[in-house]
Amino acid sequence: MAHVNENYSKLPGNYLFATIAKKVDAYAAAHPHANMIRLGIGDVTRPLAPAIIAAMHNAVDEMADAATFRGYGPEQGYDFLRNAIIKGDYETRGIHLDTDEIFIGDGAKTDVAYIQQIFGSDLKFAVADPVYPVYLDSNVMMGHTGNWNAATGTYDGVVYLPCTPENGFKAEPPTEKVDIVYLCNPSNPTGTAMTKSELEAWVRTAKENKFIIIYDSAYETYITEPDVPHSIFEIEGAKEVAIELRSYSKCAGFTGTRCSYVVVPKAANAYTATGEAVALNPLWNRRQCTFFNGTPYIIQRAAEAYYSPEGQQQCLADVKYYMENAHIIRDGLTKAGFTVYGATNSPYAWVQTPNGMKSWDFFDLLLDKAQVVTTPGTGFGPHGEGYMRLTAFGSKENTIEAVQRIANLKLIK
Ligand code: MLT
Repeated sequence: MAHVNENYSKLPGNYLFATIAKKVDAYAAAHPHANMIRLGIGDVTRPLAPAIIAAMHNAVDEMADAATFRGYGPEQGYDFLRNAIIKGDYETRGIHLDTDEIFIGDGAKTDVAYIQQIFGSDLKFAVADPVYPVYLDSNVMMGHTGNWNAATGTYDGVVYLPCTPENGFKAEPPTEKVDIVYLCNPSNPTGTAMTKSELEAWVRTAKENKFIIIYDSAYETYITEPDVPHSIFEIEGAKEVAIELRSYSKCAGFTGTRCSYVVVPKAANAYTATGEAVALNPLWNRRQCTFFNGTPYIIQRAAEAYYSPEGQQQCLADVKYYMENAHIIRDGLTKAGFTVYGATNSPYAWVQTPNGMKSWDFFDLLLDKAQVVTTPGTGFGPHGEGYMRLTAFGSKENTIEAVQRIANLKLIK
C-alpha cells in the first residue's frame, strides 16, 4: 500500500499565489470587460535586456554547431558564471569567495525549498511573520512542523518572529533553540530592510547558538540606503553561519527565464547528534550532483551577460524604473491617507488596510471596486493581517492608474 506524505494534509489551503490567481481568474471570467491592473505577485513586466538577449542568441547558435554544442553541464554550474558572480556581486563589496562555494540553480524558489535537505529530519526552524510562503510551506511538506492551528494561523513547532510596526517589521533573533532561520533582506513581503548593525546582531546570535541563517537576498539590487548590506557576507564571521541565496528574477527580469545561485561557504558547519561539526558545502554539492543536472547552458550564458557593462547598465535602468513605481505607490497612497511601509529599499509597498479592515476583505474590495489585484498580508502569516502588499513590477502607466483608482475610493476619512 502506497503511503502518502501526510504532511501535505497539514497545509490549510493552496499556495498563496495560486489562490490569488484563481480568484482573479474567476473575477475576470465574470467581468470580461474589466480593465484589471495586476500588482499582486511580484512578476516583472520589462523585457529582458538587449545584452542578455544577445548572449542567449549566441548560446543558441553554439548549440547548433557540433563543435560548440553542450550536453550535461556541471551540476554546480559553469565556471564562467560562477566566476562572474564572484567578481560582480562579491569582490566589488570586498568579499572573497572561492568558485566552489557558488552553486548555480534554476530559481531561488527551488533552492530555498530544497536547502533544508542538508539538515536533520528533526529540523527546527524560525521564520519571520509575515514571510515569503515558500520557506514555510516547503518545510511543512517535509514534516518539519506540527499541525496547523486554525485559531492562530500558525503551525505547531515553528518559531515565528513577529514583524510589526514596533520593530520596524524587522525580525529579531529567536530566543529559543533552532537549527536554521530564514531571513529575507530586504524583506518580502514588507519591503523593509535590516541595517548592518542589525545583521551583525543576527550573525553574533547565530554563532553563539550554532544556528544557520538561510539568507535570501533576492531583492538586494533594490537597496538604496547605504547602511543596508547587499550580502550577509559583508558581516564579519557570517561565512561560518550563513548560506546566501540570490535570484536573477528581480535584478535581471528572469522570472520566466529561471536562474539563481546559492553560496555555501566552506566555513559553514552544522553538527551531528554527538556534536561533531560537519561542513555544509560538500553536503550541498552531493545533493546537487544527485538531484540536479544543472541550469541550461543558454540560461547561464544569459545570466553571465547580466555582469557585462552593457548588461549592468540595462538591468539597473529597469531596476530604477521599478523603483520609481515603488515611490509612486508609496507617495501616492501616503497622500491618500494610507500608512505605507517599505518601497524604499524594495519593490514592495506594505500598506495598512483602512479602518482595521481584514486583508482578504480589502483584497476583494480593491478587486471589485478598483479592479486592482494586490496580495493580502495575511497570506504571508498572521502578523500580515491588516496589511496588503503592492508590487512595483507593473508598468509606470498602470501603477499611476492603480494608485489613482485606490485613492479615488476615498477609504481613509
Ligand atoms: C512574490 O510575489 O512574492 C514573489 O515574486 C513570488 C516568487 O518569487 O516566487
